[in-house]
Amino acid sequence: MQRKILVTSALPYANGSIHLGHLVEYIQTDIWVRFQKMRGHECHYVCADDAHGTPIMLRAQNEGITPEQLIADVNAEHQADFNDFSIAFDNFHTTHSDENKALASHIYLANRDAGHIETRTISQAYDPEKEMFLPDRFIKGECPKCGAADQYGDNCEACGATYDSTDLINPVSAVSGATPVTKESEHYFFKLGHFEESLKAWTRAGHIQSEVSHKLDEWFEGGLRDWDISRDAPYFGFEIPDAPNKFFYVWLDAPIGYLASFKNYCDRTGVDFDAFMKPDTTTEMVHFIGKDIIYFHALFWPAMLEGAGFRLPNNIFAHGFLTVDGKKMSKSRGTFIKARTYLDHLNPEYLRYYFAAKLGSGIDDIDLNLEDFQSRINSDLVGKVVNIASRCAGFIKKRYEGKLANTLSEPALFEEFVAQSDAIAARYENREFGQGMRDIMALADKANQYIDDKKPWALAKEEGKEQEVHDICTMGINLFRVLVAYLKPVLPETVIQAEAFLNIEPLTWPDIGTPLLSHDINKFKPLMTRIESDKIEAIQAASKDTLAETKSKPVQSTASIDKNIPPIADEISFDDFAKIDLRVAKIINAEHVDGADKLLKLTLDIGLAQRQVFAGIKSAYAPESLIGKQTVMVANLAPRKMRFGLSEGMVLAAGPGGEDLFILQPDKGAKAGMKVK
Ligand code: 2FM
Ligand code: ZN
Repeated sequence: MQRKILVTSALPYANGSIHLGHLVEYIQTDIWVRFQKMRGHECHYVCADDAHGTPIMLRAQNEGITPEQLIADVNAEHQADFNDFSIAFDNFHTTHSDENKALASHIYLANRDAGHIETRTISQAYDPEKEMFLPDRFIKGECPKCGAADQYGDNCEACGATYDSTDLINPVSAVSGATPVTKESEHYFFKLGHFEESLKAWTRAGHIQSEVSHKLDEWFEGGLRDWDISRDAPYFGFEIPDAPNKFFYVWLDAPIGYLASFKNYCDRTGVDFDAFMKPDTTTEMVHFIGKDIIYFHALFWPAMLEGAGFRLPNNIFAHGFLTVDGKKMSKSRGTFIKARTYLDHLNPEYLRYYFAAKLGSGIDDIDLNLEDFQSRINSDLVGKVVNIASRCAGFIKKRYEGKLANTLSEPALFEEFVAQSDAIAARYENREFGQGMRDIMALADKANQYIDDKKPWALAKEEGKEQEVHDICTMGINLFRVLVAYLKPVLPETVIQAEAFLNIEPLTWPDIGTPLLSHDINKFKPLMTRIESDKIEAIQAASKDTLAETKSKPVQSTASIDKNIPPIADEISFDDFAKIDLRVAKIINAEHVDGADKLLKLTLDIGLAQRQVFAGIKSAYAPESLIGKQTVMVANLAPRKMRFGLSEGMVLAAGPGGEDLFILQPDKGAKAGMKVK
């Protein structure tokens, strides 16, 4: 029976570039969708940019453009990246659209009228200068536990403590530098608890992976809290109906953006939107997401839909995160790779295949090991699959005028390949792509083994073997055809070229069992080339360059709004400044601190004395590299007791933090102890 399936991938934020971490999900979803379409199902794959929220509003302000301009620019960039990776959305829209405004209002009003919305007044940090409420990540101050400076929001990077952002000492707004005040405001809450029983039943009924549903059980045990769905002006989003100056929180209208993109597509194509939305529908709705946004998709989203009388999703498929060479993607290692940087150097199909080979149906993280990537592509795709065609095509073209023989010499082997079709289909259907790729490569090994055994190149030199050579090569081409059909969801562009070589209509799953006989094929051109190491090195080098570029531009991402270029602090008098005793210090020792993620213990020589200082620069410096260097320290800062010992001063370093931190160094000739003025 033909299924009708609406499929989505999570909506990327409209303020940053697509990187390889994002692509795990888009590639996973795209493979699944292409598979469904190849099977003959009606499958609609939609997505959109997630365009609302404070970070986007502030970034646009920083760049001196309107948020509409910013999100239009980013939308164009995202679409180009997706297109070049062959992510074939049927529609890519934006959450800042008329359709989304109408649907968000509709879903909100239906929930409100059914009694699922409540208002109450809450207190929040407010920036009196910028006249806006501050989300946690835009408040910084000293950690209430260890005193580390410049800690954002509700956790400390230096000691790992978590707290309420209102507990920060000397808090300042990262937007204006002003001291936040506490201010009251009326907020709108979605009563998630009203849906507890139906959510329990729904989350346990096979719509989500079992490991995810266990996680949800913990959340149920903790109790379902009301969800704050409103934000005060100024906010880039949709105003809540009948609530002037109150806006929907970005996470309210983001998942509704799935439906809005679909609506936009239905209006364009005549697909029946309502048929997909009614509660008793036989159509399917499937969301692919990262494991970090399960709460929103497995609790808030079905509850909102239920409250509005819409259908619920059939499945939420969560996946894990991407690591590169076993570690989190990192700019300094050149492994924070943007989609475009990769595309500048390598064929996107390589990455599609590699991710497919690594993906399973669970939520484990997947690792892109760059060496393994290179050897896997070279051996599987180039060495095994493409090789089959290149070993047979030349003979067919040269000796048989490009025409395949009229029988298969080994029908049993062909049948063995075709017999795998249900099993491989099940791998795709169940998102066990890695196992599927292993099954396909095992067949590719068999096809190569067949050609090795038959040695057409040797027979071709013998008299009277024309028919045999013709049959063997016809067999090889037919095995190749089955393999590329199996790989088509993963390697769409390569398979288009293979279809052109085979001179056939686009392959579909039901076609697989019909061999090509007495059929003209075209000249074979290599479908793929090996990955050389210099390409991978170039990607890594360019990813390091991306960082330099990021630094030179005023604002590139949310992180750079609040970290790279902080606002100028409140003016101080000269007398205040004169109180600070800055000295040239020589680092005579630097060592790791047991149990501290961010700190190094420095021993500083300032001429008159030695000082021990705990500096939060571990993410940027190996301790050995610091010994012998000069820097500048605040010598008269009152000593502070930290968890790891007494810190007697502070070293000056520039930069937002993490790997981007640079200690200040005096010019040549400066001596330890000199006063800095
Ligand atoms: O986490 C994110 O990147 C969000 N922009 C995902 C939104 S998915 C959906 F709910 F819209
Ligand atoms: Zn701390």
